Amino acid sequence: MLQTDNIESLRERVAAWRAAGARIGFVPTMGNLHAGHLKLIEVARGQCERVVASIFVNPLQFGPNEDFTRYPRTPGADCAALEHAGVDLVFMPSVETMYPRPLAQLTRVSVPQLGDMLEGAHRPGHFDGVSTVVARLFNLVQADVAVFGEKDWQQLAIIQRMVDDLGWPIGIVGVPTVREADGLAMSSRNGYLSAAERAVAPRLARTLNEMAGLLRAGEHDYAALERATCAVLAEDGFRADYVSIRRPDLHAPERGDTQLIILAAAWLGSTRLIDNLPISLGPVSLE
Ligand code: PAJ
Repeated sequence: MLQTDNIESLRERVAAWRAAGARIGFVPTMGNLHAGHLKLIEVARGQCERVVASIFVNPLQFGPNEDFTRYPRTPGADCAALEHAGVDLVFMPSVETMYPRPLAQLTRVSVPQLGDMLEGAHRPGHFDGVSTVVARLFNLVQADVAVFGEKDWQQLAIIQRMVDDLGWPIGIVGVPTVREADGLAMSSRNGYLSAAERAVAPRLARTLNEMAGLLRAGEHDYAALERATCAVLAEDGFRADYVSIRRPDLHAPERGDTQLIILAAAWLGSTRLIDNLPISLGPVSLE
């Protein structure tokens, strides 16, 4: 596996692979890799002859009081895991390489509306940081396909929109959330949880599953269900930022919709967890 922090070597290597007729898959990450990330690599490998991964903790997508400085950085273990997963090249740029001018002067990519709701409403500027870094990475890597996790459903929707709106010739592939045995969605931030919090954390996914059960049983007062779920989470010790039932494209649902997604973000102590659950309701019988 090749490792580089240098744009020229990245371009040279990918250009040679392309010239040889290889399809290039790309998996952007912030490192501290777990089985969720490695699943994305596996999917990329299934679709492409060459796979590029990136590790870059992107300052632009963290708010001033968020965890940028303490975000876990484990490049040695990450590179070993990527090599074992069959990655051909890992790009690990410095902040100066990614952002050669002061951040205040930087050209940014912004996806309105989709980027302002849910996570965007609670983390102002977050998705502008994500779409800007992903835009730059896409242009540097020049992949045919990029793979993202459904764990960050809204992020995936925003990247898809950005690519559609800007007309970029790259396929975006989504991969279902990889979970721990007890249902907790894998996340680099799970490492922040104390033992006691880690024991409670799977209740977030469990509560979303219970909510899905009620929707399947015919509950259609979405607002009441969202409120009740926040109350249940509060009893378990979470502070929910939101629990929201949406259409998969994140528009507000209407009665009779059969494809829904429940999205949630909740604090457990000083750790913010997000999760979501796509659900398919059977066709509504009129009898
Ligand atoms: P990061 O949180 O490192 O996640 C990298 C990719 O792994 C994202 O596509 C994310 O959705 C996916 N992922 C994380 N946990 C997952 C899980 N449990 N199951 C499946 N996929 C999972 O997301 C980012 O980094 C950044 O915002 C980035 C896109 C790299 C831009 O900086």
